[in-house]
Amino acid sequence: MSYKVISRSEKDTINLAQNIESEKFPNMVICLMGDLGSGKTIFTKGFASSLEVEEAITSPTFNIIKEYTSGQMPLYHMDVYRLDGKVEDLGIEEYFTKGGITIIEWADMIEDYLPEERLEIKFRLSDEDEDTRILTITPYGQEYEDICEAIL
Ligand SMILES: Nc1ncnc2c1ncn2[C@@H]1O[C@H](COP(=O)(O)OP(=O)(O)OP(=O)(O)O)[C@@H](O)[C@H]1O
Ligand SMILES: [Mg+2]
Repeated sequence: MSYKVISRSEKDTINLAQNIESEKFPNMVICLMGDLGSGKTIFTKGFASSLEVEEAITSPTFNIIKEYTSGQMPLYHMDVYRLDGKVEDLGIEEYFTKGGITIIEWADMIEDYLPEERLEIKFRLSDEDEDTRILTITPYGQEYEDICEAIL
């Protein structure tokens, strides 16, 4: 089952991220996908602020993975857009069981390497208005289904 959520502002997307953060657990994996400039990094920033990460979240496009350890739980922020093929070199699977939270932008580009249990959020721009985003949220696994039921 998927949930459709309309975000009408950057603030709406941040609120959603903060609600999901409130249901966090170790080894949580959140996979973000969808249009360029649709809010994946904004979502990550909202999540990180709720987690009380002190460092500024910057897009990890060139580093692929950034680790933030100042929050209530470690946050591993990945952006695999420019990865082209070297997935194995990253040791990405290690992050899924390190006890923190992994958020992956452009996760559909590494579909074969994602854990079976995860929360997927697909962002789509809308023709309706510049600040509207259509989000399709799909939980895979009981823990993620419970989160969706609790907050959506
Ligand atoms: N409803 C909304 N939700 C999120 N961001 C919005 C919304 N409306 C407008 N915006 C704007 O859209 C932009 C989203 O940028 P962001 O960097 O988060 O996109 P992205 O999906 O990470 O892009 P990329 O694919 O390049 O990594 C921001 O400038 C933000 O202010
Ligand atoms: Mg981004």
